[in-house]
Amino acid sequence: MKDELLGLRTKALEELKSVGERSDIETLRQLYLGRKGHLTLLLKRLAELPKEERPAMGRLANQVKEELTGQFQSVSDSLTTKELEEEPFLDVTLPGRRTPRGHLHPITQITQEICTIFSTLGFKVVEGPEVELDYYNFEALNMPKDHPARDIQDTFYISDNVVLRTHTSPMQIRTMERQLPPVSIVAPGKVYRPDSDISHTPMFHQVEGLLVDEGVSFGDLKGTLTTFVHQMFGPDTDLRFRPSFFPFTEPSAEVDIRCVVCQGKGCRVCSHSGWLEILGSGMIDPEVFKIVGYDPETTSGFAFGIGVERIAMLKSGLNDIRLFFENDIRFLRQF
Ligand code: PHE
Repeated sequence: MKDELLGLRTKALEELKSVGERSDIETLRQLYLGRKGHLTLLLKRLAELPKEERPAMGRLANQVKEELTGQFQSVSDSLTTKELEEEPFLDVTLPGRRTPRGHLHPITQITQEICTIFSTLGFKVVEGPEVELDYYNFEALNMPKDHPARDIQDTFYISDNVVLRTHTSPMQIRTMERQLPPVSIVAPGKVYRPDSDISHTPMFHQVEGLLVDEGVSFGDLKGTLTTFVHQMFGPDTDLRFRPSFFPFTEPSAEVDIRCVVCQGKGCRVCSHSGWLEILGSGMIDPEVFKIVGYDPETTSGFAFGIGVERIAMLKSGLNDIRLFFENDIRFLRQF
């Protein structure tokens, strides 16, 4: 039995040396030390020995058992250490990787800037539909059926009497229909025209303004828009009111600012005029007041329509409007 015991010990230690994985150690442990393992079965046979041999053999058997148990444990431990060392190094004290944060689109930023300036002056911000009735987009704005702006060259038609709004002016009518004077609103939003080149996109943005009360004069229009220009482009910006025509305002004026590129000397951006157009405006035509049921004798007011992309381009020195809508992240990041 002694030889058997020592043979088992040698064999077990030998096999333990060639073990490569922790699961193999467990199998081997079961094979020798498990409930039906070689050593366990051998120990059970101690009882069959003559009484005087049992104590010595028992001691030896326990020594072997303890030694094997210890060896199995230490091989298992060293495998664990090796596995840990092989894992890629992880420094848990390193700062995390930040997810880049986006920001508002430049057109949204400028729209908000424009609306904030007018809010400060007491104008309320309202919004209305982009798919608009012919009535609001044209008819009620004093543009009769044969008006050239209604041409399919200039307007996206949804059906005979539904269009994609070509300007934000329908919000003048929608606002006045709903309330009596005094009225002072700005209406930002998208507008659509079938144009596409370096300075036109089929969709662009405007901010409409409308102020109606008793005794509103052209001086109020000039004062309001001058304040706007000075807040938007700086207090030293030169501007001029140039006579113009819109079917729904009379008199009408377009506002130009001194060219931000050449300071008025004349360059390609301003077509050598020294001036850049930034908005259309005028006193509300009495015909429009009649249509919405206001009394043209006691009521007066002004309206304006600002081109948002135009303002954004002038402020940032861009010459191609299409950049705003290509959504190239390298372009947008600069704002
Ligand atoms: N709606 C006009 C346009 O799109 C601009 C405008 C608005 C003119 C209000 C006068 C008054 O060109």
